[in-house]
Amino acid sequence: MKVIDTVAGRHSGSRADSGLLEALHGLQAEHGYVPRQEAMALSRRLSVPLARIFEVLTFYSYFRLEEPGRITLSVCDGTSCHLQEGPVLLNALQELLGIKPGEATADGAYQLNVVRCLGCCSCSPVLMVDDKVYSHVEPTDLPRIMKKHPPIVNKESNDDAHSTA
Ligand code: FES
Repeated sequence: MKVIDTVAGRHSGSRADSGLLEALHGLQAEHGYVPRQEAMALSRRLSVPLARIFEVLTFYSYFRLEEPGRITLSVCDGTSCHLQEGPVLLNALQELLGIKPGEATADGAYQLNVVRCLGCCSCSPVLMVDDKVYSHVEPTDLPRIMKKHPPIVNKESNDDAHSTA
């Protein structure tokens, strides 16, 4: 809520949707995505229809409407990686995780993204896991790579489990 109040205060007296983009950027920076509850609060605070907010959120591919996975797997689909079996690697990861690009696994552990050129084309095809880059990745390398990045336990879920036991 702090982001919304700060932006609303800065833009008070301006057009109703003035500051909308700034607030959405702030919310995404705070949560990693724009939660529906926050979008609704923003709608009330700026007097901007919720439909207008979702119009903006869905227009810009930068904004996320779902909570991202805790470990991000980015498959490069730039020209070089595409020509070096990048799509085969992507398919293998989709099968392994059971999700499509832009989605997170049901447990929130992994996020799968497709990106354009990571700047290391001579290492195609490239997979980036968080900020670690893997070169010349083949589908058979995936189990070894995934072992290096085991699912991160969600502390809140873990705490809940202890508190209810
Ligand atoms: S095209 Fe994949 S790193 Fe450049």
